[in-house]
Amino acid sequence: MKIAVYPGSFDPVTNGHLDIIKRSAKIFDKVIICILNNSSKKSPLFSIDERVNMLRGVVSELDNVIVDTSDGLLVDYAKEQGACVIIRGLRQIADFDVELQMAQGNRLANPDVETLFMATDPKFSFISSSMVREFMNYGRTVEGFVPDEILPILREKIGGH
Ligand code: PNS
Repeated sequence: MKIAVYPGSFDPVTNGHLDIIKRSAKIFDKVIICILNNSSKKSPLFSIDERVNMLRGVVSELDNVIVDTSDGLLVDYAKEQGACVIIRGLRQIADFDVELQMAQGNRLANPDVETLFMATDPKFSFISSSMVREFMNYGRTVEGFVPDEILPILREKIGGH
């Protein structure tokens, strides 16, 4: 069974994330979305539980996708789960430097786990969770940026439109 881990902060999940998840689910027998709790990013907008609930809601129709969390190293988590692949989406060239460094660091830590990059669909390449949070901060709509199902949760969080 080929298991892939799709890691991230998902603060919150975007349509770009969801597209990568759906495409990965067609390739792998099982895809584990892992919300990392020890990311260098401080002060997340959404708690881990909120992020888990949002993600579980948006992947509920995908039978081979599960949502989990970890506060360890990503490669250790992948090994524990029997995953052979870490999936990362690449939106634009700016992502590449940081992603390459992370993939090479992870490879050094565990050469049995491969990092595979998936090119983001161009229609989502400008979307990031930080842009969503910024728009929400200023009360602007994030419709089209995130799955429709989570719009009410985002609105409730900070009263955006
Ligand atoms: O969606 P993000 O915030 O870009 O995801 C970054 C994430 C969570 C994948 C990365 O920070 C991570 O892997 N954190 C777990 C800790 C770890 O394994 N660090 C070593 C990376 S070389």
